[in-house]
Parts: sequence; C-alpha cells; structure tokens
Amino acid sequence: MILLVGGEKGGSGKSCLAQNLAVFFAKELAATVLIADCDPQRTSSDWIQARNNDPELETINCIQLYGKIRNDLLSLNEHYDYVVVDCGGQDNLALRASMSVAHHVLIPMRPKRRDIKTAPHMEDMLSTCKMVNPKMIASFVITQCPSLPNQAPRILEAKEVCASFGINVLDSITYARNIYDDSEEKGTSVFEVDPDGKAANEIRSIANEMLAIKQEVSYEFG
Ligand SMILES: Nc1ncnc2c1ncn2[C@@H]1O[C@H](COP(=O)(O)OP(=O)(O)O)[C@@H](O)[C@H]1O
Ligand SMILES: [Mg+2]
Repeated sequence: MILLVGGEKGGSGKSCLAQNLAVFFAKELAATVLIADCDPQRTSSDWIQARNNDPELETINCIQLYGKIRNDLLSLNEHYDYVVVDCGGQDNLALRASMSVAHHVLIPMRPKRRDIKTAPHMEDMLSTCKMVNPKMIASFVITQCPSLPNQAPRILEAKEVCASFGINVLDSITYARNIYDDSEEKGTSVFEVDPDGKAANEIRSIANEMLAIKQEVSYEFG
C-alpha cells in the first residue's frame, strides 16, 4: 500500500504523522515499511538515520525521491507492505506524482484559518489526480487540536469546512501534545515513549480508521 501524507502547508504535522504511522505499521502490524522522503529538508531521512542507529528499534527503511517519482513508488510498493510518502509541500511535482499512484492520501490540517484556506487547492489537485488514479482514497485529518473543552467547536468547524469540499474527513484527530515533538528526538515515536498513552492511541485510531476505509472500498470493487 502506498500511503501519501501530503499537503502544501508547512508545520501541519505531515512528517510527524508519516513517522508515527510508519512505526505503527512496523511495530504493531509487523509489516515491512519504507518511508519515501520527498522533502529537501530531509526531516524524515534525518529521523530514520537516528532511528536506525539504535538496534533496539524496528528498522524502517528510507529513500529520498524528488520529481517524477511515480514509477519509483510503484516498484517500491512491490517490495514493502507499506510505502509511506512524506511530501514536504514544496515539490509540487512529487506531490502530484505520488497522488497519481497512492492508495490513500492523508492530508493533515490544523484547525486554523490559514491552513484550512489551502483545502480548495488540495481538492483541486486531488480531483485532477483522481482522473488517473480513480481508486485513490483521500482524507483530511485534523491535527494539533486544542484540548480545552471550550475550543471543541473550532475542531468541529474545521471538520465541517474540510468536508464541504467533498473530501472525507477522519473522525480521528490528534490533539496538540508535547510528546509528538519530544518523541521525535532520537528517531523514536510516541509508541516507544508512551505506548499506552493518549498520543499513541490517536495514531492507532487514525491508522485503523484509514485502513477500514480501504477495506470497505476494496470490498465494493471486489
Ligand atoms: N499533534 C501534535 N501536537 C504537538 N506537536 C505536533 C503535533 N504534530 C506535529 N507536531 C510538531 O509540530 C512540528 C511540525 O510538524 P511536522 O511534522 O514537521 O510538520 P510538516 O512536516 O507538516 O511541516 C514538529 O515539531 C512536530 O513535532
Ligand atoms: Mg515535513
């Protein structure tokens, strides 16, 4: 399965989500996982380098890919259970190329106006790519949500605005938690730092919700 974590807004949590999902697949599903890092800033590549220096951690492979990466992704998908693509927002070509072969596209969105303003453009890109990749499933996931109860309407509103573009919005969200930032430090994830914690459960919930959609659709198409 090719899973693209994309979007054009920096800081929305693309790399963070890509990394934590990669660990979930490797650790909890015992799957083989590769991260394709398309961001020239090499956030995920640096994280993997730190991770693979620690023999105690499940190995996750990583490759840097830029530009027209469609065929690269297709052949990598033959060798790994999960190819997780971290698209850095800058390389539009890699983002479009990944969308043209991805089974699932996850677009993290903070519940902030400037982030949500990018939703129409993402919808535009997605509908173009759906012409060549009609089975692609795209979902917004609301990230870094404020946890104060009086902020709950903001989260709901963000979900509603995203849904109004006709793209699926996951029920599962991430709240703003320091553990996401702190756990990245040594190539680890929320699963190593606090496996039974709230953040780990948020990632499990996102992964399971996403995988359930995939199953429903593949059932539909036989
Ligand atoms: N749910 C969250 N709560 C708190 N911090 C987060 C969360 N998700 C991501 N972050 C932090 O926000 C920063 C930007 O995230 P990152 O994944 O690098 O964004 P992007 O790849 O979209 O530019 C990182 O320091 C990351 O640890
Ligand atoms: Mg990034």
